[in-house]
Amino acid sequence: MAPRHFLTLLDLSPDELNGVIQRAIELKAMVKRKEIYEPLKNQTLGMIFEKSSTRTRVSFETGMTQFGGHALFLSPRDTQLGRGEPIEDSARVLSRMVDAVMIRTFEHEKVELFAQYSEVPVINALTDMYHPCQLLADVQTYVEHRGSIAGKTVAWIGDGNNMCHSYINAARQFGFKLRAACPEGYDPDQSVLAAAGDCVEIVRDPRAAADEADMVTTDVWASMGQEEEQKIREAAFSGFMVDDAVMASANDDAIFLHCLPAHRGEEVSASVIDGQQSVVWDQAENRLHAQKALLEFLLTN
Ligand code: CP
Ligand code: NVA
Repeated sequence: MAPRHFLTLLDLSPDELNGVIQRAIELKAMVKRKEIYEPLKNQTLGMIFEKSSTRTRVSFETGMTQFGGHALFLSPRDTQLGRGEPIEDSARVLSRMVDAVMIRTFEHEKVELFAQYSEVPVINALTDMYHPCQLLADVQTYVEHRGSIAGKTVAWIGDGNNMCHSYINAARQFGFKLRAACPEGYDPDQSVLAAAGDCVEIVRDPRAAADEADMVTTDVWASMGQEEEQKIREAAFSGFMVDDAVMASANDDAIFLHCLPAHRGEEVSASVIDGQQSVVWDQAENRLHAQKALLEFLLTN
């Protein structure tokens, strides 16, 4: 049977995604109770990182340890991937040995190609286009703090980037409304946007985006691979900081999320990220629980 992959949020049905979120909440409670649960004993997750990571690496590696399995960190610097071995060949070889593969890379087409040739599930751990694992943690965090996200309004402030694209897909799959404030020239990909129809609205004013929102979220102005654009982007994004004025537009019980790493004084003020409405540390922790639920879904169902 062909393996299930998780390259975008559209690879799972809404019911399956909601099941993963509920399971993540249960798995989190089990960890807090110090319950040992090892459904992936003797199984190995290959982790290919072509970009830096703190949360993604630590959460997947720790998750595999907690599940009784093993995680293997593979960097292009010291594997043949970095010396030009074809993706197709790497996928065929790795998937004969490991039980699942997680990939963080640049072009989204690379994870698609890898998945095409892989005999085991492939998980997208961030590409230039999408970061679906982060959205599992984000939705889990919303649900834990405020209940179901269906029918709620989420404000995205900033770049129409990989995180924004995953929020657009999440709006479709989880049934919330996304209002995105992006500077002119930094809109999300048109095809991702068009496929989401009425779920998403693009505005130019961050306060208008946050108006009566239940959640406000943002991300860095220059993503990994765009470091040389930092100065140009600082100019383009001025006025797009999530600060107290933006949060004041949102509902009183709105929560603030950020996938991290964050730049205080750029996309978010210190007062917001370190303030009462911020749940970013729960959100970061939930990467562990949400990805464990995903691994269990992909490897034991
Ligand atoms: N949010 C996130 O993916 O963090 P890392 O880049 O540290 O993995
Ligand atoms: N948009 C950011 C997310 C980091 C987790 C990046 O791609 O660098």
